[in-house]
Amino acid sequence: MGKIINGKQIADEIKEELKEKVKKLQEKEIEPTLAVILVGEDPASQIYVSNKKKACEYVGMRSLSYELPEDTREDTLLSLIKELNNREDVHGILVQLPLPSHIEEEKILMMIAPEKDVDGFHPMNVGALSIGKKAFLPCTAAGIIELLKRSNLSIEGKHCVVIGRSNIVGKPVSMLLLRENGTVTMCHSRTTNLKELCQQGDIIVAALGKPNFVTADMIKHGAVLIDVGINRLENGKVCGDIDFEGCKEKAGAITPVPRGVGPMTIAMLLYNCIQGAEQGEE
Ligand code: GUN
Repeated sequence: MGKIINGKQIADEIKEELKEKVKKLQEKEIEPTLAVILVGEDPASQIYVSNKKKACEYVGMRSLSYELPEDTREDTLLSLIKELNNREDVHGILVQLPLPSHIEEEKILMMIAPEKDVDGFHPMNVGALSIGKKAFLPCTAAGIIELLKRSNLSIEGKHCVVIGRSNIVGKPVSMLLLRENGTVTMCHSRTTNLKELCQQGDIIVAALGKPNFVTADMIKHGAVLIDVGINRLENGKVCGDIDFEGCKEKAGAITPVPRGVGPMTIAMLLYNCIQGAEQGEE
């Protein structure tokens, strides 16, 4: 049976390290602060935002919460971001996605000052990542790399198969795996030979949003399986994009859902925000 990668435990370790960083900043009278903006009442987004705020509290960081109604005008949101960009006591700004359809997501993400863009979604940070410059890294992608490193699973020279090409996960994790000297294959909904490609993967990252999509016949013995999916089934249970029960014997290592990649995303968000506060002190 493969090793079960305990993302919750690794995220807790990171949070303990971050507590120390927060204390050091506070000794210098810097209060690391994350501003979280939620527009509308999407239940999943409400849970994500609430978890982010709780995690800030846990490591001793301040969070400012802006919960705006569904019919908030685009220019109102832009003004709020501008105001937060100018506030010296705010180090990170996060706008929870998705936004209501009358608001143009790209315009909003472009407005966030790149040095406060703790999600790493601003084109400046996306560009910096792609040319290997220092940047805020998108939290889930960075969390996956951290999970692999802290589990002593090497990336260099490994064939990494990424399923899903989203801006939030698929594209940035591919860039990061490449930066770690992996050989990366990016697969998506139009890939014709997905099964054959997956069967060649030493590391598979599933981030496509389809419950139990990756099955045992699609993987090779000893493959490292990273599951980014969070799918709610009709029976109320949550499952990933990888068939955990079917794959766990054949895999070399596998992340569970929940308690796998999810907790790492939040830990890396806190990491980014504290990094932002540290940069501010220079
Ligand atoms: N919606 C789903 N994932 C994310 C994320 O990582 N950041 C933000 N801001 N919104 C999201």
